[in-house]
Amino acid sequence: NRDLSTLILDRIRDVPDYPKPGVLFKDISPLLADHEVFAAVVDALAGSEPVDKIVGIEARGFILAAPVAYRAGAGFVPVRKKGKLPSETLEESYDLEYGSATIEVHRDAFTKGDRVLIVDDVLATGGTAEAAVELVRRAGAEVVGLGILMELAFLKGRERLPGVDVRSLVIV
Ligand code: PRP
Ligand code: MG
Repeated sequence: NRDLSTLILDRIRDVPDYPKPGVLFKDISPLLADHEVFAAVVDALAGSEPVDKIVGIEARGFILAAPVAYRAGAGFVPVRKKGKLPSETLEESYDLEYGSATIEVHRDAFTKGDRVLIVDDVLATGGTAEAAVELVRRAGAEVVGLGILMELAFLKGRERLPGVDVRSLVIV
């Protein structure tokens, strides 16, 4: 949808040199503050096929995934950075530019065979999304799609996600 992409791009602010020199940060705050665009984004990410659970990836993914779950009539499951979930977890690590990060999901977050849509704000190198897909599958559920607000195509994250239906609202 070309109109929605234009509205989205108009409301994402580029912040140079954040969080460190040389990085151009994509700030979605103006988009979130605009009721009409935020609502249109949530509707578009929710899609129309039936799903059982929406997974949100801490932290910025939570902001989008929770209203998407409400809209889709599905439950919400948090994937969190290591050490934040209280009960038994599964964990996956992935590489960052320097070092690595670990995310977790509760072992009992899904019913076997649950149809799951994973939601996050940005697809960059794909490390976060790849780890989240792995977690959902290990927990016994089926990943029916990955809903992304903005995909940074030059980082080729999609190539790390073969067999995943990546649905990006805007690709830059
Ligand atoms: C950002 C963004 C995505 C991820 C994409 O999260 O929100 O989750 O990076 O990058 P990748 O495709 O290269 O893995 P970040 O880890 O900065 O944390 P936040 O969501 O908690 O702000
Ligand atoms: Mg994130």
